Amino acid sequence: MVSRVIPVDEFDLVIFGGTGDLARRKILPALFRRFCAGQMERGARIIGAARSEMDNEGYREFVREALREFGTGRACEEGTLEGFCKTLSYITVDARGTDGWSALAAMMKPGVVRAFYFSVGPSLFGDLAERLHQYGMADADSRIVVEKPFGRDLATARALNDTLALHFDESQIYRIDHYLGKETVQNLMAVRFGNMLFEPLWNAQYVDHIQITVAETVGVGGRGEYYDRSGAMRDMVQNHLMQLLCLIAMEPPAKFDPDAVRDEKLKVIRALDPVPPEDIVRGQYLAETDDPDKPGYLAHAENPRSKTESFIAMRLAISNWRWKGTPFYLRTGKRLKARTSEIAVVFKDTPHSIFGPEAGRHRNILTIRLQPNEGMELGVTIKEPGPGGMRLIDVPLDMSFAEALGPEAEEVPDAYERLIMDVIRGNQTLFMRGDEVEAAWAWTDPLIEGWEARGDAPVPYESGSSGPEDALMLMHRDGRRWREIRA
Ligand code: BG6
Repeated sequence: MVSRVIPVDEFDLVIFGGTGDLARRKILPALFRRFCAGQMERGARIIGAARSEMDNEGYREFVREALREFGTGRACEEGTLEGFCKTLSYITVDARGTDGWSALAAMMKPGVVRAFYFSVGPSLFGDLAERLHQYGMADADSRIVVEKPFGRDLATARALNDTLALHFDESQIYRIDHYLGKETVQNLMAVRFGNMLFEPLWNAQYVDHIQITVAETVGVGGRGEYYDRSGAMRDMVQNHLMQLLCLIAMEPPAKFDPDAVRDEKLKVIRALDPVPPEDIVRGQYLAETDDPDKPGYLAHAENPRSKTESFIAMRLAISNWRWKGTPFYLRTGKRLKARTSEIAVVFKDTPHSIFGPEAGRHRNILTIRLQPNEGMELGVTIKEPGPGGMRLIDVPLDMSFAEALGPEAEEVPDAYERLIMDVIRGNQTLFMRGDEVEAAWAWTDPLIEGWEARGDAPVPYESGSSGPEDALMLMHRDGRRWREIRA
């Protein structure tokens, strides 16, 4: 069998914000796992860059700590950690000043891939891009990686795009949405465009509606200040849920190449109708009554008058030939009853039941589970076994990827592993293009402006529930219901 790990070219990866939370939790552990998997060529170098004074050994110790805390990858042998640490170095730089920049430029190895990861607040993106240019590091082979939030509305996203465009071409800018790196999210494209079975039915003629749920059990404690300025709409819908919606709804691209895929996603966003207020439900979680350690949203946000939503459910319509008449229901929230993300494609009833009304109503539902237990399930109707007439039941054809793929599935890479390796390979398919981000904001902005202008307050919901009652009503009034949120 051909090895599935194809080593990437030699690279220099500079992580600005190299001592920050994202670097500790995600970026460095992801790089370490790829190192363990043998994907990094000898000579690959990771350079942590931040304001704090630290030497190389200090940084290596910082990284060892981070890896101890945030997972090291099972396949790793003793001693590999030290091998990984040898790839690490550290430099003190001041993003807004001149300190450290000449030294950083001098460190860069000529002739290898150069990637600069902006793991810092967006207010520093412009300064970093400018400094990289000024110190001769923004050449044609360099790439920059930027994290969300990419702006907080259309105007700020545009300004950011313009700033980055001063020194980098679009082909050098990698805007991360980590949902696109999730294995099952990519599988969405494989399922749709690698099988004959689904695509002919994938339209308003056969699909009754589609539900997308991203439910979390955590609250916003610890990041209340950021979250209170964002809310579920900016934090989750404008990016992660929008990306899921695009992959589910887009037309087949002519090929699996970055611009072909992103062109199709962009068309979906542009075809989204504005959402009337009655099709949006916003909520805020309440404190857990018997657990003083689980305060409600207002306490977490430290803002008793906050009108920011920790939950949102919406009914969306896509005005194009494929989807006219098929609603898309989206919901996401914190402190819900289980951590689960899934997409359910609910097919229409058969046009006529030969089994008579007593056979009841049965529907095929294709469920794509993103987490936990990545997999797919197709609900099909069969005859209940046994004598006594034709009674119909729905049974799942269940395919858990872990079971189907065996032990190899344990090695399913974390989203960041795939995305960082794609940066080094120079493959932008799983990254958002500037126009895509702007189109998503252009659709989001009027909705947010609308509820702000009306002064709408989110409705409270119980911690550990499925969200506010009103969200249930959003579907009930259409004669439909949400799938149960369960792990
Ligand atoms: C982040 C959001 O982008 O995604 C968080 O800022 C959210 O609020 C997280 O918790 C969810 O990611 P995942 O991979 O745990 O589903």
